[in-house]
Amino acid sequence: MILQEEMTILSNVNIAPRVFRMVLQGEMVLDMQVPDQFLHLRVPSPDKVLRRPISISEYDHATKTCVIIYRVEGPGLADVSEMVPGQKLDVMGPLGNGFDLSTPFPNKKALIVAGGIGTPPMVQLARDLQKKGVAVTVFLGFAQASAVILEAEFREVAADVQVVTDDGSYGRQGHVGVLMDGVEMADFDAVYACGAPGMLRAVAAKTENHPNAFISMEARMACGMGACYACVVHVVGDETGQQSLKVCDNGPIFRVGKVVI
Ligand code: FES
Repeated sequence: MILQEEMTILSNVNIAPRVFRMVLQGEMVLDMQVPDQFLHLRVPSPDKVLRRPISISEYDHATKTCVIIYRVEGPGLADVSEMVPGQKLDVMGPLGNGFDLSTPFPNKKALIVAGGIGTPPMVQLARDLQKKGVAVTVFLGFAQASAVILEAEFREVAADVQVVTDDGSYGRQGHVGVLMDGVEMADFDAVYACGAPGMLRAVAAKTENHPNAFISMEARMACGMGACYACVVHVVGDETGQQSLKVCDNGPIFRVGKVVI
């Protein structure tokens, strides 16, 4: 069920250059059941009418709290970054399909590949997989050392966490592709990826024959609930260009090979 709620901000902390971690509390958390759904935030400025989609990083039903991690890329989220504990934030959600964990895990192994601001929603995914008894390998990619986030959170639950940076200032130098070159995708029951399109294409190239490989797509959004067609992506193999799916409604999670990245 999609709800709209004035959620209470419990904290809003700068954790990396332009990146903030916000804890929100409200009844809506009880409707969060799968990793990588998103919230549609109303920016607290009357001149900014479009909401901003931000993925849910973690949620906890017991405390009715959830965590969102967002990067300030314009004036809208800059306004959100200045909000303080105790203030209310107008939120719609939870939106999108989220990762489906009902696929079989005969080998009890999964791989998460994430980059930059695509890493936050994978925290809940890694936790949920660990709770299912799945050993999770996590490959994380960032631009440089100062941009590295959430490594400790992944280390709490994952069997193996490896980090690369573009400039080599932290972890190995390179893109996550250098880490993927060192493993057999077929060893993992499922592969999950979230990050920039280039990274998603690299994962898709490695997993095109994998039965359970999933990507989380990003898109510019307006309504966030399937009504406006602002977020369409095209279906692979559709030569007419007429078939499309909506990231907000049919996604943001798609099987590798389903949509054009
Ligand atoms: Fe309106 Fe997706 S944002 S249809």
